[in-house]
Amino acid sequence: MIVRHDNRFVLIGTNLTYVFDVDARGRLVHQYLGGRLHESDIKELPDARVLHSSFETPEGVAAYEFTSFGDLVYTEPTLKSHTETERLHAFALRDARIDDETLEIDLFDSIQSLHVTLQFTLYPAYDIIARRMSIKAGETVTLDSAQSFSLGLIERDMRLRHFSGAWTSEFQLQEGPLLPGKKTIESRRGLTSHQSNPWFALDSDATETQGEVVYGFLGHSGNWAIHFEKDQFGFTQVTGGINPFDFAKTLQAGESFTTPPGYIGYTQRGFGGMSQNAHDFERDVIMPEATRDVLRPVLYNSWEATYFDVSEDGQKRLVDEAAAIGCELFVVDDGWFGERHSDAAGLGDWHVNETKFPNGLDPLVRYVEEKGLQFGLWVEPEMVNPDSDLYRAHPEWIYYTDGRPSTTSRNQFVLNLALPEVEAHVTKWLDELLGRHDIRYIKWDMNRAFSEPDSPHLCDAKELWLRHAEAVYRILDTLRERHPNVAFESCAGGGGRIDLGVLSRVEQVWTSDNTDALDRLTIQEGFSYAYNAKMMSCWVTDAPNWLNNRSLPLGYRFVSAMQGTLGIGGNLLEWTKEELAEAKEWIATYKTIRPLVQHGTSHRLASLKRDGFHAVGYTDGEDYVVLVNADRRQYGKNRLRVKLRGLDPERTYELEGRRVSGRYLMEQGINLTQQTDYDAYCLVIHPA
Ligand code: GLA
Repeated sequence: MIVRHDNRFVLIGTNLTYVFDVDARGRLVHQYLGGRLHESDIKELPDARVLHSSFETPEGVAAYEFTSFGDLVYTEPTLKSHTETERLHAFALRDARIDDETLEIDLFDSIQSLHVTLQFTLYPAYDIIARRMSIKAGETVTLDSAQSFSLGLIERDMRLRHFSGAWTSEFQLQEGPLLPGKKTIESRRGLTSHQSNPWFALDSDATETQGEVVYGFLGHSGNWAIHFEKDQFGFTQVTGGINPFDFAKTLQAGESFTTPPGYIGYTQRGFGGMSQNAHDFERDVIMPEATRDVLRPVLYNSWEATYFDVSEDGQKRLVDEAAAIGCELFVVDDGWFGERHSDAAGLGDWHVNETKFPNGLDPLVRYVEEKGLQFGLWVEPEMVNPDSDLYRAHPEWIYYTDGRPSTTSRNQFVLNLALPEVEAHVTKWLDELLGRHDIRYIKWDMNRAFSEPDSPHLCDAKELWLRHAEAVYRILDTLRERHPNVAFESCAGGGGRIDLGVLSRVEQVWTSDNTDALDRLTIQEGFSYAYNAKMMSCWVTDAPNWLNNRSLPLGYRFVSAMQGTLGIGGNLLEWTKEELAEAKEWIATYKTIRPLVQHGTSHRLASLKRDGFHAVGYTDGEDYVVLVNADRRQYGKNRLRVKLRGLDPERTYELEGRRVSGRYLMEQGINLTQQTDYDAYCLVIHPA
């Protein structure tokens, strides 16, 4: 519900109330974000502003939901722009519309003739508010910073959680006090990045199961930033959106621009409640509608088995094994096109390599389908190798500047998708590829960050970051519309492009190139704070693992990979008969628990760091599955005690022939006896 009292606006969710005022200068002054209040009490809210010195705004220091540049407010502005002659703003409220769960506030800037609409859409079932800003130019204007949201907070002592990482170590959860001053998480790399991710959570004293958490996401896959600024009065200003660093966007009179969406959530159910709300919101609202109710198939991917050495015969042999153990989707990874025999050549030449596939792709596609699987293919559309026909024909299609050498990384350049002809070329070959073959799955990869972000063919190179990200979205949108049966996976050397922007266009993400089942537990646990299990692609690969030479038992590798959408990525031709038989059983088990994992509610029950073992539970409110990965067995200890959450305490449940109450399973828990290093367990619990 959204209500207006004069210049005060109130958004009321299931367990949330959010209140702000619009002041005489068109600033949105934060008043309250917290547990649900009675509407009749809203007028009792004290004004959150504090009057202070002549060094602050005369109306009082506040936290804001919208500010512009030039005021006695010095935090990151929501909007900063300039015209040929003006650089300041004078905003005032023009209008406000409430339409069901959407509030739109119109502000007008009489100096730069800007019409700004701030949009708030409330999703009460999840207590999440989507925010974005639209700007319509009355005269030519250049945006220097246009943020998706500003969020004011008035709690004094907060902790910030966010992700750091790198290639093969994504989603490392960081936690620390938010101290006075400024903290920024961001990407300046042209893509979402492994190093940081556009998600955060703020709390004062929340635990996994209770306490207030304010959290947020950005839906943008280009350069982004979220700033946290805490002042001496205890106010915190959070501002997020397209990274203002090296950003520009010029609008001609009459043109408009809408920022990518930002999402703010609130819960009183701790970090577990936060994740559960976010997971449901992503599944129900963000991710492509057609796939919401469809379970993701068990995938086989040939990358770690064959690397670039793909061929019709070799892939067919893998298809046989993948089909025999129960895989449902067979994906040919890198190496099928051009002169792609290593990462040194071929990117850009998207025709089937005739030596590897003398009769084209179709015989393999048919073979896969005859075995009852779907066929999928890897592509890396935003890239070109210097050693490619495409680059030889169009060296000007990359980001570069005259007079400075262009840097290759993984032997490749980034294509300049900010140029319409390059975007059109990429759209065309992908559209034709999908039209030509019965492809049901595309793994869209991106294996390097930007450098030399310039182009003699662009008027203002500062626009390229946004234009590139928008082009990627447009291409995906076009392909999805023309080929509605194709599912997409977002990959950028693992988890370099995972955010709510790309997630509205893909079914799955490749979480990390790190396929070591032990490392993966921490990566997956971090991921689970922000993102749901259904989109999280996890593979069982060979032992020893390619990255760290670690050999983990097959059961352990399965239990780790079953915590998301299961895939197999090992060289099945080298697995023993016993291993293949065991894999077949695990895959059959996964299929029985798949609805719980992919569509259920998840509970982080134990973590390696805190508890010395890893456990996660999934339930649909009836059945329950617990996946447990033990660590090394040390000092003779052999007891693992897993306390469940999310059961009905008064109900009787059955677990491996025993009958116990939900209360028992949550208070006493399940005792497991660890026999040796890296034991793993899949425990299925049904109501009796
Ligand atoms: C990236 C991906 C891998 C694989 C290779 C292929 O690293 O993350 O899964 O597709 O590219 O070159």
